[in-house]
Amino acid sequence: MFNLELLVRDNIKKLKPYSSARDEFDGIASVYLDANENSIGSPTIKWYNRYPDPMQHKIKEKISKVKNISSNQIFIGNGSDEPIDLLFRCFCEPAVDNVIVFPPTYGMYEVSANINNVILKKILLTEDYQLDLPALEEAIDLNTKIIWICSPNNPTGNSISRQDIEMVLNNFDGLVVIDEAYINFSRQQSFLKDLNDYPNLVVLQTMSKAWGLAGLRMGMAFASPEIIAYLNKIKSPYNISQPIQDIMFTALDEIGMVNDMIVELVASRKKLEESLLSLTQVVKVFPSDANFLLVKFTEAKKIYDHLLSMGIVVRDRSSQPLCENTLRLTVGTDKENIKLVEAIKAFK
Ligand SMILES: Cc1ncc(COP(=O)(O)O)c(C=O)c1O
Repeated sequence: MFNLELLVRDNIKKLKPYSSARDEFDGIASVYLDANENSIGSPTIKWYNRYPDPMQHKIKEKISKVKNISSNQIFIGNGSDEPIDLLFRCFCEPAVDNVIVFPPTYGMYEVSANINNVILKKILLTEDYQLDLPALEEAIDLNTKIIWICSPNNPTGNSISRQDIEMVLNNFDGLVVIDEAYINFSRQQSFLKDLNDYPNLVVLQTMSKAWGLAGLRMGMAFASPEIIAYLNKIKSPYNISQPIQDIMFTALDEIGMVNDMIVELVASRKKLEESLLSLTQVVKVFPSDANFLLVKFTEAKKIYDHLLSMGIVVRDRSSQPLCENTLRLTVGTDKENIKLVEAIKAFK
């Protein structure tokens, strides 16, 4: 049986969180003399002399409408990397607890585990990049606190079987974090709709991919109000700056434009895949539900260097397990994709 209180570290349960001026008073006043801000102004066109809303109420309200989820089930962080780190800090006792990841996958789970001195168990994906459930069952012990599933997975691009994820959610008493950074490019349904069925589920999404706002740094964690309350308890007080909150507030109205970009990128992904398949240098293009393609080449490293010499930078993933001789290619604009294909074609 899942019991959140048994999962949270004792020091976090006992912690008295920092209480900022804006936590203590979030109403409207005519004179603000409670936060030691500069009362005169700031040397910028727009005034930024005031601290931002620590709980980002206005943008949470908009995200709540876009995602059809209550505001108290949303955590906003400085990229997804912030909630990834906070989940470790909240639930994993250093040098005692462990988490499970499925390589090849997004590297930050491992880095965050190492920063927090949390034991990392790695279970390789199967040859077709799916979960190895028997190996997972064997690896779980009483100190396993979090299972990290990236779907669609980076760098392989495929979605993890929904049935397998449900199996994990139904049978594991720790947290199951599903990183859906690329979900908007996928044919699969998000697990957001399942949050109320699974108290152990955390879904991560980001504004960096489909929303086209990687430069702003904003990621989201969605979970039960109780889990979100713990993340809020330990985050730094003003983790999302005022300019970011302002820009996000406007950007969140542009869902139509974002949907158009998603349709365009998915169509370009298909075109790019077809063009790549006609090249003799390409051994295999792996099926992708993301805005990138993992491609197996005859000589990945040499093609990487060749592309670089032509001013095109891609990601060599050959050192990752199960990714021998592969490059990860982000879907570019039509012009960039044509340039990329022509450049690969020119490699002899
Ligand atoms: C699977 C996955 N999760 C999270 C992130 C990080 O996203 P953010 O820009 O929100 O930190 C990335 C970035 O590449 C990613 O591939």
